[in-house]
Amino acid sequence: MAEATQNIDALMAEERRYPPDPEFAAQANTPADFYDQDPDTFWEREGRERISWFKPFDTLKQWDRPYAKWYLGGKLNVCYNCVDRHVENGQGDKVAYHWEGEPADDRLDITYADLQSRVVRAANGFKQLGIGKGTKVCVYMGMIPEAPVTLLALARLGAPFTFVFGGFSADSLGGRIVDMGCEYLITQDAANRRGTASALKPIADEAMSKSPNLKSCLVVRRTGTEIDMTEGRDQWWHDVVDGQSDDASSCPCEEMDSEDMFFLMYSSGTTGKPKGIVHTTAGYLTGVSTTHHYVFDIKPETVYWCAADIGWITGHSYIVFGPLCNATTSVMYEGLPDFPDKDRWWEIIERYKVNVLYTAPTSIRTHMKWGAEYAERHDLSSLKVLGSVGEPINPEAWVWYRDTIGGGKTPVVDTWWQTETGMIMVTPTPGLTTLKPGSATQPFPGVMAAAYDEQGKAIPAGSGAGYMVIKEPWPAMFRGLYNDDDRFRETYWSRFPDAYLAGDGARVDEDGDFWLMGRIDDVMNVSGHRLSTIEVESALVDHPDVAQAAVVSRSDPTTGQAIVAYVTLRGDQQGSPEKLIELRDHVGKVIGPIAKPANIVFADTLPMTRSGKIMRRLLKDVAENRALGDTTTLADPAVVQEIKARADAEASKED
Ligand code: WT7
Repeated sequence: MAEATQNIDALMAEERRYPPDPEFAAQANTPADFYDQDPDTFWEREGRERISWFKPFDTLKQWDRPYAKWYLGGKLNVCYNCVDRHVENGQGDKVAYHWEGEPADDRLDITYADLQSRVVRAANGFKQLGIGKGTKVCVYMGMIPEAPVTLLALARLGAPFTFVFGGFSADSLGGRIVDMGCEYLITQDAANRRGTASALKPIADEAMSKSPNLKSCLVVRRTGTEIDMTEGRDQWWHDVVDGQSDDASSCPCEEMDSEDMFFLMYSSGTTGKPKGIVHTTAGYLTGVSTTHHYVFDIKPETVYWCAADIGWITGHSYIVFGPLCNATTSVMYEGLPDFPDKDRWWEIIERYKVNVLYTAPTSIRTHMKWGAEYAERHDLSSLKVLGSVGEPINPEAWVWYRDTIGGGKTPVVDTWWQTETGMIMVTPTPGLTTLKPGSATQPFPGVMAAAYDEQGKAIPAGSGAGYMVIKEPWPAMFRGLYNDDDRFRETYWSRFPDAYLAGDGARVDEDGDFWLMGRIDDVMNVSGHRLSTIEVESALVDHPDVAQAAVVSRSDPTTGQAIVAYVTLRGDQQGSPEKLIELRDHVGKVIGPIAKPANIVFADTLPMTRSGKIMRRLLKDVAENRALGDTTTLADPAVVQEIKARADAEASKED
């Protein structure tokens, strides 16, 4: 905690305040008494009004700590709420997605009626393959229209899914398929990535070869890249889906129970094995649609763009389910921000007159680095609200975002939440909250957040830092870890018996505003992506030449944190630039490119305590270029001096 506290002291010196603009406030979705509502009354009302139920719920919630249930007794279908009802309500011609492919001029406007046709055809095709209520399905795709269509079609059939980010390796994909017990995989030939085709199907093939329960694989042709199709197992999407009926009555929406499992999202924890975070149906949908409506001030005519990937929870909640449930028009973009040039995002905003942009601090800092001239080439005056998510945002990036992108007038909503929380938990609401650059400000109504001290007592406002906890259940709360009750209790509920432990440090200032300080466990946050130190260490020692590895993060001006690995090689091998590249690629292959260490320091030995534990804290001091802390418990204090000397030598080479 000490180290996180150092960062927060700099943050707390931030004194800029941005009170709400009266003109914005006058038209905002939030009533003046938004924060004074009784949580149960609020969630009861949102649940009844925001969702169309096949059978209304009879009990708001049940709290049998650590397991919550919400909207008990209700029957509903997510696809019906996100698609069919809008068509029935006369909104069929409204655009659901302005889809923008990476190749220039590859664009498609998908209306709610189009979306329904596509979803019904896909669901009929899936049914023909044998997918039905309860069938577990894995999806491994990029940002193509078939991605939301697939998730909605699975929701229509009541088939729980896990969507794996397209940047993950065959091992990561296979591990998730096996852990969930998926019988089907839906993927694409290759994805467009900065003008080249990045193959997905070969990775899927390797993953499937190690997944004995997998029955069949459906493949979308996106790039036309040559790929292998295994007879009897693999089929093309267009062969199975295109000829199906698109009449909604040919494939009715399954009646699901409020608490039926909706999806799993795997996320890194403090051990090598990713956790299957369980989300259920009604609470999740209510939580994400409600927060989407108020946090981004969504109106019927709003054009909204969440520039995340559907493969992360941000994409599930705020590209697919929240916005569609609210019948919002979204932009969805397939490619990278610098293709063909660094103004691609701003060009998209100008073309569609985007009102809300939601992205991560790492992207904002990248655009800052590229320079304001790219944004200045475009008319961004349509923007009304800017959102940030994924990691703490430094005040400098916050102010640049508001001034350069938002023309100095837009509220910036810094939204704190997690895969586990499913929905935004701590955030300003535009029009009501006085903004402070670097602070996520206030818990959303019905979210009981606190910072606890070591003894599990809430730290009074304005008096120090503590553990971020949530004391009461919220609708989109995860319902545990898939098949791992022990790990669920141990990870989140053992430090404090009466509160959910988020794993972040937090400080509450004199106004009661929250300042999130980053992870306090062995979880790293690289460009808003969560990775565990142990996961990366395991990937390194999986290489035949590596004897030992220790991984820490250091701060990085663009990616927030960057991965630093300390490695000892087997026998008398010496580190070399070639070996460094080989090890980085190996980590990329085992986990995925996002996990590649930024630096690798080769060492003869790693600093160990006398009881044989690697002293990560000291390695972190080296990585951060800080004065070395206490080395007295080390078995051989000279080791860390030696490593520091090597790291310094490396760093001076880079300069
Ligand atoms: C971790 C959760 C929420 C979707 C994306 C990441 C960090 C997230 C913020 C924020 C400070 C933030 C936390 C959290 N985080 N948003 N606004 N300010 N930190 O989801 O992969 O589950 O990661 O991201 O450390 O615990 P995730």
